[in-house]
Amino acid sequence: HVLSYDYNGYLVPPFPNVDERLDKLPNMSIRDDDIILLSYMKSGCHWVWEISNMLRRNCTEYEKNLKDIGMLELTDQDVIDTQPSPRVLNSHMLLEHLPRELLTKKTKILFVMRNPRDIIVSSYHHIFQMQNFYKYDGNWNSYFDLYMKGQVNYGKWFDYMLEWEKVFKKYPELPVLLIKYEDIKKDPVGKIAELAEFIGVEKNEEFFKEVADKCSFNKMKMHKSRGGDSFRTPGASLYRKGVVGDWKNWFTVRQNELFEEEYKKFKEKTEMFNIFD
Ligand code: A3P
Repeated sequence: HVLSYDYNGYLVPPFPNVDERLDKLPNMSIRDDDIILLSYMKSGCHWVWEISNMLRRNCTEYEKNLKDIGMLELTDQDVIDTQPSPRVLNSHMLLEHLPRELLTKKTKILFVMRNPRDIIVSSYHHIFQMQNFYKYDGNWNSYFDLYMKGQVNYGKWFDYMLEWEKVFKKYPELPVLLIKYEDIKKDPVGKIAELAEFIGVEKNEEFFKEVADKCSFNKMKMHKSRGGDSFRTPGASLYRKGVVGDWKNWFTVRQNELFEEEYKKFKEKTEMFNIFD
């Protein structure tokens, strides 16, 4: 299978021209009013992107170009360059790969996080369903093993988080909002209000409620699903389940033990991200 492309030691999906695009990325120009959403894959970036975009554009229409969520490693720079302001850029890359101007311009960062166990399950389905693209024939157990070895896109979640923790400590002046998938699920309107305040959007509760409703899982699934035809299971969607705790339906007892072992080591190393059970 062709799961990943190794870009200078960081595994990324084998997107067309990804090498060329990533080589140029550090020099990309950032606008003063850009914000950027950073996350490990399957943490809920489509969801938070849509919410942020509605807040910034002051309207509750979905972004029409369904593929266009400003993903820097997937979208050519000339396309990103012609997007109208205000832009919500988006990436799963590390700081070293991203535009240098993010640091000098102190671009606002939305850092989206999710329980890593649910991320493994979600990414397995993503990879498995997009068979034409990834050509991955393994089953859940073999994906889990690959994941624990870090042989998956964007590497191990643990490493990704520790890498960003280092950055946030080194550059404390960077404006960062940490957002947990589980918290938005629990209190969408409250979290949307928090996001709006961070971005600097003044709006009322009614508007936040409307954004929450438009960005609910069922509505986004209905309006934004894509790619269905090339999926392994007809009718499948990247809007899969949208719940907290689906991992319990997938992890075996042994897998849970292996995961816990790694997780324990991670918790000893992190000060910022000791936030999941
Ligand atoms: P599941 O596979 O667990 O359902 P990303 O956007 O970072 O790729 O993350 C995708 C995950 O977020 C998928 O998780 C997807 O179903 C979920 N998701 C997408 N939109 C959502 C929404 N509006 N509300 C809740 N979860 C959502």
